[in-house]
Amino acid sequence: EKGTYPHFMLKEIDEQPFVIRNIITKYKDDDDNIKLEESIRQTVADADRIYIIAAGTSYHSGLVGKEMIEKIANIPVETHIASEFLYNMPLLSKKPLFIFISQSGETADLRGVLVNVKKLGHPSLTITNVPGSTLSREADFTLHTYGGPEIAVASTKAYTAQMAVMVILAVDAARARGVEIDFDPLQELGIVANAMEIFTNQKEVLEEVARDYLSVSRNCFFIGRSMDYYVCLEGALKLKEISYIQAEGFAGGELKHGTIALIEEGTPVIGLATQSDVNLNIRGNMKEVVARGAYPCFISMEGCEHEEDKIVMPAVHKFLTPLVSVLPMQLIAYYAALHRGCDVDKPRNLAKSVTVE
Ligand code: F6R
Repeated sequence: EKGTYPHFMLKEIDEQPFVIRNIITKYKDDDDNIKLEESIRQTVADADRIYIIAAGTSYHSGLVGKEMIEKIANIPVETHIASEFLYNMPLLSKKPLFIFISQSGETADLRGVLVNVKKLGHPSLTITNVPGSTLSREADFTLHTYGGPEIAVASTKAYTAQMAVMVILAVDAARARGVEIDFDPLQELGIVANAMEIFTNQKEVLEEVARDYLSVSRNCFFIGRSMDYYVCLEGALKLKEISYIQAEGFAGGELKHGTIALIEEGTPVIGLATQSDVNLNIRGNMKEVVARGAYPCFISMEGCEHEEDKIVMPAVHKFLTPLVSVLPMQLIAYYAALHRGCDVDKPRNLAKSVTVE
């Protein structure tokens, strides 16, 4: 039920802090440690390489998951688009683990890969919002994202929930492998939930950005570097699917290799700057587009903020910035769609779960 909300999408955006707190509770034992099945811990810790398979928004969370697992647990990870992997499989390592990320657990492209992986005898884990789903039943293991039903076609809370579960998984695997970890993911997720609330309580500024930048634009760019780049891909997808504005998420340093030719007087460019090690680089990339007439909107995080920034998010752990920085992206897309009179919850040509290849 939508309750007092005009759209499911807005309700689901607002639910994100609660979903994160729910995940903390579900994955915490009585001693405040991570609660995860021993067999899952061992399977992840034993893998010599992890292949994350997903589509759309879940693919974007898989890109963040790769960073988390590689940097926290020191296990090499590749993230693949399911429909590509299905017909163009790369060389596999000796002891691979396959992780399928799917809100619905029903996506046909992923199912195709899972069937092949099982034939090859490799272990599989599904991270899903629907534990009884096909991908959950057919994989060896399941981790539940506890997001509650997601009704709007555009995925929001499922994305942040998937990343929250992956950071817990990464830290658990790291400990099993004897890697020293200097942060408590459950505690850091609590800080994330609080930071998310800032946006759910202050939507006016994002509504204003959407009106100002996107009510008449034909196109829009989202640029960022490292983790921010992945969030930009997701920001662009959200905007495309519900507002029908042509949008591209781009790695800041890559624009000058061709795409910068598309920047005209007034082209909106949203620059995401939450990563301190590349903060000056992305600021430089924004200067390059501004010099060609772009209309810039800076979104940053405490510790990276500059005077030019429209939105500054509260600081969160460096591996968890996407869980917070995606909220302004989701809300900008929502309000842009609203201003343009689009059907927010049921965008054209799309279905909530894609059960055909
Ligand atoms: C975008 C969106 C889709 C899904 C994709 C995968 O907002 O919802 O891109 O993320 O179709 O779906 P699941 O996660 O159910 O496998």
